[in-house]
Amino acid sequence: MINLLCVALLSTSVLADAVTPGLEIAFSLERATQGISISANGRKFLSQRYSTTNSPQIVELLDDNSTVLYPDVAWNSYNASDSNSDPSLSFVDVDGARLGPDGRYWVVDGGTTGVNGSSKLVGVNLTTNSVDKLYYLEDIQGPYVGADDVRFSKDTEVAYLSDISNALMILNLTTGHGIRVLSNTTSSMPYSPIAYNGTWVPGSDGAGSFSWAGLDQIEVSPDGKYLYYQACSGGLYRIETKYLNAALHDPTLAANLEDYTTRFAFTPSTGGTTIDADGNIYVSDTQTLSIWKVTPEGYTSIILQDDRLLWTDLMWITADKKLWLPASQMRPGGDGLMAAGPNYIFTYPIDAGPSPIDHA
Ligand SMILES: *[C@@H]1O[C@H](CO)[C@@H](O)[C@H](O)[C@H]1NC(C)=O
Ligand SMILES: *[C@@H]1O[C@H](CO)[C@@H](O)[C@H](O)[C@H]1NC(C)=O
Ligand SMILES: *[C@@H]1O[C@H](CO)[C@@H](O)[C@H](O)[C@H]1NC(C)=O
Ligand SMILES: *[C@@H]1O[C@H](CO)[C@@H](O)[C@H](O)[C@H]1NC(C)=O
Ligand SMILES: *[C@@H]1O[C@H](CO)[C@@H](O)[C@H](O)[C@H]1NC(C)=O
Ligand SMILES: *[C@@H]1O[C@H](CO)[C@@H](O)[C@H](O)[C@H]1NC(C)=O
Ligand SMILES: *[C@@H]1O[C@H](CO)[C@@H](O)[C@H](O)[C@H]1NC(C)=O
Repeated sequence: MINLLCVALLSTSVLADAVTPGLEIAFSLERATQGISISANGRKFLSQRYSTTNSPQIVELLDDNSTVLYPDVAWNSYNASDSNSDPSLSFVDVDGARLGPDGRYWVVDGGTTGVNGSSKLVGVNLTTNSVDKLYYLEDIQGPYVGADDVRFSKDTEVAYLSDISNALMILNLTTGHGIRVLSNTTSSMPYSPIAYNGTWVPGSDGAGSFSWAGLDQIEVSPDGKYLYYQACSGGLYRIETKYLNAALHDPTLAANLEDYTTRFAFTPSTGGTTIDADGNIYVSDTQTLSIWKVTPEGYTSIILQDDRLLWTDLMWITADKKLWLPASQMRPGGDGLMAAGPNYIFTYPIDAGPSPIDHA
């Protein structure tokens, strides 16, 4: 069974070991951690993907550095081999997980193709610590599951979900009505396989196959005007959110959204992104294990490189102008893409705090 409490292992000696100036180890955890979100009052939520066979889990990291399953055990107890396990009320394949501008903790469960109720967007109320928003994505997604991450419109009425099966999903959170757009278009499809530490990531179709992933990273500008998005292999595009929102009730526009997209910036094969209050996007480069900064004008630079930034994924920015970097330990090859650790979450100083419409 699932452990309720798993104590995070902390080795204080490593704290002084940071090689790259400014890069500090904030936490050293027992399990590989894909994402971190920190609430305005300091609560920390982690998504942990510590194996490719067990379902990822969500935990809250408590002040004594122990972790507790969040929002509860039941949501984190999915077992594909157990017919009594309910995929519609438990996390099947969490990928995106983050606090939204409304203060909820939102979990994107990509689910499993063919498993009814497994693909969903789950909203957890931090006051009651219970799920109070639940949107099933079956009717919106394509033939294959692919829901991967989520961002919100300025008024928090619309959720934008990336779909690594080459599309964007747009969801009216008031009604639950959603559409799937940009399907198999130039801007939603990968132009190359995913890259890692100098080479392509092998695929699951035998020797010589490669791993591909479509529309993955998304960000909304702090003024709510643009949605930035890219396939996992990089190449950042943007589109004005007014077209996305209007497409919810305009099928002709929905079918032609590609006409309103523009190439925005050159970016590399990416683990995750985040955006600051000034509109700078931080991109974790899985190829050179570095962090890129993309300005609102579309200029890119590498601000940080460190071999321990091993597949940095869902980053976070706090009001004290720190970028939080979980090194998720995704490592192609070997036994199921995971490295043995160490499972660090780093911080790095930046010039701005969080975007007001992105972080609670
Ligand atoms: C938790 O970990 C942090 C970071 O390593 C450390 O600063 C803090 O002292 C730890 N807290 C406890 C209660 O051990
Ligand atoms: C999952 O369910 C199967 C079948 O009931 C059971 O044998 C297995 O122990 C369960 N796994 C876990 C981790 O509980
Ligand atoms: C399963 O699929 C059916 C048909 O689409 C739908 O009516 C039902 O609500 C789904 N169940 C869950 C739990 O999503
Ligand atoms: C969370 O629940 C509390 C108590 O029911 C409620 O007051 C609050 O509005 C909820 N939060 C959100 C974001 O809806
Ligand atoms: C998109 O392309 C993929 C791969 O070529 C294909 O399997 C899928 O059916 C296409 N989807 C649509 C909606 O055309
Ligand atoms: C990256 O690849 C080089 C050799 O090509 C290897 O020495 C190094 O350990 C690798 N780094 C990581 C973090 O996998
Ligand atoms: C979402 O649905 C509500 C309720 O029908 C509607 O008032 C609102 O205009 C919709 N938003 C968008 C962006 O379509």
